[in-house]
Amino acid sequence: MTTASARTDMATALNRAAATLDELRARAKDAHWNVSGTANFYSLHKLFDDVATEANALTDVVAERVRQLRHPVNVKLAGASHLRETDVFFAGRREARAYVRALGVDARDTQHLLSAIATEASATGDEATNALLSDAAARISKLEWMLRSSMEPL
Ligand SMILES: [Fe+2]
Repeated sequence: MTTASARTDMATALNRAAATLDELRARAKDAHWNVSGTANFYSLHKLFDDVATEANALTDVVAERVRQLRHPVNVKLAGASHLRETDVFFAGRREARAYVRALGVDARDTQHLLSAIATEASATGDEATNALLSDAAARISKLEWMLRSSMEPL
Protein backbone atom coordinates (compact mmCIF):
# COMPACT_ATOMS: atom_id res chain seq x y z
CA MET A 1 0.00 0.00 0.00
CA THR A 2 1.58 3.21 -1.07
CA THR A 3 -0.45 6.37 -0.56
CA ALA A 4 -2.91 7.53 2.08
CA SER A 5 -5.49 8.18 -0.59
CA ALA A 6 -5.18 4.63 -1.95
CA ARG A 7 -5.65 3.40 1.62
CA THR A 8 -8.80 5.51 1.99
CA ASP A 9 -10.25 4.16 -1.26
CA MET A 10 -9.48 0.61 -0.19
CA ALA A 11 -11.10 1.16 3.22
CA THR A 12 -14.25 2.43 1.48
CA ALA A 13 -14.33 -0.61 -0.79
CA LEU A 14 -13.74 -2.95 2.16
CA ASN A 15 -16.58 -1.35 4.11
CA ARG A 16 -18.79 -2.07 1.13
CA ALA A 17 -17.60 -5.68 1.10
CA ALA A 18 -18.30 -5.99 4.83
CA ALA A 19 -21.80 -4.55 4.35
CA THR A 20 -22.47 -7.00 1.53
CA LEU A 21 -21.27 -9.97 3.58
CA ASP A 22 -23.38 -8.81 6.52
CA GLU A 23 -26.46 -8.60 4.29
CA LEU A 24 -25.69 -12.08 2.93
CA ARG A 25 -25.53 -13.34 6.53
CA ALA A 26 -28.89 -11.74 7.36
CA ARG A 27 -30.57 -13.18 4.26
CA ALA A 28 -29.15 -16.65 4.89
CA LYS A 29 -30.45 -16.55 8.47
CA ASP A 30 -33.85 -15.48 7.18
CA ALA A 31 -33.87 -18.52 4.88
CA HIS A 32 -32.58 -20.76 7.70
CA TRP A 33 -35.44 -19.71 9.95
CA ASN A 34 -38.27 -19.60 7.43
CA VAL A 35 -37.70 -22.43 4.98
CA SER A 36 -40.33 -25.15 5.15
CA GLY A 37 -42.37 -27.56 3.07
CA THR A 38 -39.61 -29.53 1.39
CA ALA A 39 -38.42 -33.11 1.76
CA ASN A 40 -34.85 -31.93 2.23
CA PHE A 41 -35.81 -29.32 4.80
CA TYR A 42 -33.13 -30.33 7.28
CA SER A 43 -30.21 -30.23 4.85
CA LEU A 44 -31.30 -26.83 3.51
CA HIS A 45 -31.92 -25.50 7.01
CA LYS A 46 -28.33 -26.49 7.84
CA LEU A 47 -26.84 -25.28 4.56
CA PHE A 48 -28.44 -21.84 4.99
CA ASP A 49 -26.95 -21.67 8.47
CA ASP A 50 -23.53 -22.62 7.07
CA VAL A 51 -23.82 -19.71 4.63
CA ALA A 52 -24.70 -17.36 7.49
CA THR A 53 -21.83 -18.61 9.65
CA GLU A 54 -19.26 -18.22 6.85
CA ALA A 55 -20.57 -14.79 5.85
CA ASN A 56 -20.39 -13.69 9.49
CA ALA A 57 -16.80 -14.91 9.87
CA LEU A 58 -15.76 -13.16 6.65
CA THR A 59 -17.48 -9.91 7.66
CA ASP A 60 -15.22 -9.93 10.71
CA VAL A 61 -12.07 -10.59 8.68
CA VAL A 62 -12.88 -7.82 6.20
CA ALA A 63 -13.88 -5.31 8.89
CA GLU A 64 -10.65 -5.95 10.78
CA ARG A 65 -8.68 -5.33 7.61
CA VAL A 66 -10.33 -1.88 7.47
CA ARG A 67 -8.99 -1.23 10.98
CA GLN A 68 -5.53 -2.43 9.97
CA LEU A 69 -5.64 0.23 7.27
CA ARG A 70 -6.40 2.70 10.08
CA HIS A 71 -9.88 3.58 8.97
CA PRO A 72 -13.16 3.26 10.86
CA VAL A 73 -15.46 0.34 10.20
CA ASN A 74 -18.89 1.57 9.26
CA VAL A 75 -20.83 -1.28 7.77
CA LYS A 76 -24.24 0.36 8.00
CA LEU A 77 -23.20 3.79 6.71
CA ALA A 78 -21.12 2.28 3.96
CA GLY A 79 -24.37 2.35 2.01
CA ALA A 80 -23.70 -0.29 1.38
CA SER A 81 -24.74 -3.73 0.44
CA HIS A 82 -23.94 -4.71 -3.13
CA LEU A 83 -26.77 -7.29 -3.15
CA ARG A 84 -29.71 -6.67 -5.43
CA GLU A 85 -33.20 -6.07 -4.10
CA THR A 86 -35.39 -9.15 -4.03
CA ASP A 87 -38.79 -9.81 -2.56
CA VAL A 88 -37.83 -13.34 -1.55
CA PHE A 89 -36.64 -12.20 1.85
CA PHE A 90 -39.35 -9.64 2.47
CA ALA A 91 -42.61 -11.19 1.34
CA GLY A 92 -42.85 -13.91 3.93
CA ARG A 93 -42.23 -16.59 1.30
CA ARG A 94 -40.96 -19.90 2.49
CA GLU A 95 -40.32 -21.90 -0.67
CA ALA A 96 -37.04 -23.75 -0.56
CA ARG A 97 -36.31 -23.22 -4.25
CA ALA A 98 -36.83 -19.47 -4.03
CA TYR A 99 -34.42 -19.23 -1.11
CA VAL A 100 -31.81 -21.42 -2.77
CA ARG A 101 -31.99 -19.46 -6.00
CA ALA A 102 -31.91 -16.05 -4.34
CA LEU A 103 -29.04 -16.96 -2.03
CA GLY A 104 -27.16 -18.45 -4.97
CA VAL A 105 -27.43 -15.15 -6.84
CA ASP A 106 -26.42 -13.27 -3.70
CA ALA A 107 -23.40 -15.52 -3.16
CA ARG A 108 -22.31 -15.01 -6.76
CA ASP A 109 -22.72 -11.23 -6.54
CA THR A 110 -20.74 -11.23 -3.28
CA GLN A 111 -17.98 -13.30 -4.82
CA HIS A 112 -17.73 -10.96 -7.81
CA LEU A 113 -17.51 -7.92 -5.55
CA LEU A 114 -14.78 -9.50 -3.40
CA SER A 115 -12.81 -10.53 -6.48
CA ALA A 116 -13.11 -7.05 -8.01
CA ILE A 117 -11.82 -5.40 -4.82
CA ALA A 118 -9.03 -7.98 -4.61
CA THR A 119 -7.93 -6.97 -8.11
CA GLU A 120 -8.02 -3.28 -7.12
CA ALA A 121 -5.95 -4.05 -4.04
CA SER A 122 -3.37 -5.84 -6.11
CA ALA A 123 -3.20 -2.93 -8.56
CA THR A 124 -2.32 -0.56 -5.72
CA GLY A 125 0.31 -2.92 -4.32
CA ASP A 126 -1.77 -4.00 -1.31
CA GLU A 127 -1.03 -7.71 -1.54
CA ALA A 128 -2.23 -8.46 1.99
CA THR A 129 -5.73 -7.21 1.17
CA ASN A 130 -5.60 -8.99 -2.18
CA ALA A 131 -4.78 -12.31 -0.49
CA LEU A 132 -7.44 -11.86 2.18
CA LEU A 133 -10.18 -11.02 -0.33
CA SER A 134 -9.15 -13.73 -2.77
CA ASP A 135 -9.49 -16.28 0.01
CA ALA A 136 -12.87 -14.83 1.02
CA ALA A 137 -14.07 -14.97 -2.61
CA ALA A 138 -13.05 -18.64 -2.85
CA ARG A 139 -14.96 -19.47 0.32
CA ILE A 140 -18.10 -17.75 -0.96
CA SER A 141 -17.67 -19.48 -4.31
CA LYS A 142 -17.76 -22.84 -2.56
CA LEU A 143 -21.01 -21.92 -0.83
CA GLU A 144 -22.49 -20.79 -4.13
CA TRP A 145 -21.64 -24.20 -5.60
CA MET A 146 -23.25 -25.95 -2.63
CA LEU A 147 -26.42 -23.89 -3.00
CA ARG A 148 -26.62 -24.58 -6.72
CA SER A 149 -25.92 -28.27 -6.29
CA SER A 150 -28.50 -28.68 -3.57
CA MET A 151 -31.39 -28.24 -5.99
CA GLU A 152 -30.17 -28.74 -9.56
CA PRO A 153 -27.70 -30.92 -11.43
CA LEU A 154 -24.69 -28.96 -12.68
FE1 LIG B 1 -30.58 -21.89 14.05
